[in-house]
Amino acid sequence: MTSCVNTTAGPGESGEWQRALRAQFPILTGHPDLAYLDSAATAQKPQAVLDAVQTYLTTTNANAGRGTYPWANRTTSLVEETRDRVRRFLRDPDPERSAVHFTSGTTEGLRTIARDWLPGFLVDGDEIVVPVADHQANIEPWLETQRQLARQGTHVRVLPMPYQQASGDYDHTVLARLAGPRTRFVAVTHVHHVYGGDMNIPRIREAVGPDAVICLDAAQSIGHLPVSLAGLDVDFVAFSGHKALALPGSGAVWARQARGPRFVPGGWSGTPHTVGIVSLAAALDWLEAAGTDRIERWTVALASRLTDGLRHLDAYEILGCQTSLAADSPVQRRQGIVTFRHREIGSGDLGFILFSHGFMVRCDQHCQGSAGESSESVRVSLHVYSTVEEIDRLLSVLATLG
Ligand code: ALA
Repeated sequence: MTSCVNTTAGPGESGEWQRALRAQFPILTGHPDLAYLDSAATAQKPQAVLDAVQTYLTTTNANAGRGTYPWANRTTSLVEETRDRVRRFLRDPDPERSAVHFTSGTTEGLRTIARDWLPGFLVDGDEIVVPVADHQANIEPWLETQRQLARQGTHVRVLPMPYQQASGDYDHTVLARLAGPRTRFVAVTHVHHVYGGDMNIPRIREAVGPDAVICLDAAQSIGHLPVSLAGLDVDFVAFSGHKALALPGSGAVWARQARGPRFVPGGWSGTPHTVGIVSLAAALDWLEAAGTDRIERWTVALASRLTDGLRHLDAYEILGCQTSLAADSPVQRRQGIVTFRHREIGSGDLGFILFSHGFMVRCDQHCQGSAGESSESVRVSLHVYSTVEEIDRLLSVLATLG
């Protein structure tokens, strides 16, 4: 990962750069009165992705891995090239020894690891660490594996991931005390989908030692910041294409084939989501050209602007790491997700009020695990197309409700 230098988002060189990128999102230019602030749920698509999909469907569309005529061969090549594209995007340090499996998104990716790989890796008496205050998609699959193994007489202990109460970051010190030689599988999240904190994955590796398998839910980091496998030392990465500017129903699992059985799910069973895979390659190209380091600086600066404004409004409570940490905190890096509550207005009602002013935000419990927040909140989640003007306008509306 690169270091994060936070700047105040505003006019100037970054402003020009951002305006040129935003202009490439037809849904946004077509709705200038609306502010889409729900990119952690799904991201909007640039013209380059829409064009890649249309070109593929109007020039090449065929099934992959079957057929010997040119369209079928080209489709097979596109699928295989996209596996390499994913490896390059992730800065895979050992691409000869990794697998890339296409999925419908992070949820299916994590379920596939839990269903097809984890049972063959664990033995009686092993322990797995489950991040119980993260997204349910990164909790339920591991608990289901535990239940399934128990039915077969293999008993695996679940260690609930410890958290630091104030920030929502993992408690790496407590984890280091909990984890022992039988702690063989650790599920973690790269960027928390409610608190917006980077979950310090290198510190997880330090805490659990060199032999445990680490499985990373990268749903909220791919496309938002540089993600380099060379710096992360993890064994699995699952992510969604649709949050990284590609089509819904696309996504991938990257697997380092170093520990335990090889990860070989499914193979060519069924027709792959070829259009989604084509869109994923185009989205990764677009993101790389835009610069994920610059995207990170932009969204972090906007998130800081929002939290700085919210801190002046007594009616609001900010959740997690965005509450107290400086944007350039050495303790935990923040990303472009800010979640808050009004002390008197319910979050659902606040969502309706905000939409009446043109803001699209997520207002619920955000599919967080039961160890997380018990009540609903408003989540603002940003991408490169989000603007300073949107944040300032949002703060003005929120101030009128204080
Ligand atoms: N996982 C997506 C979110 O957090 C849907 O909103």
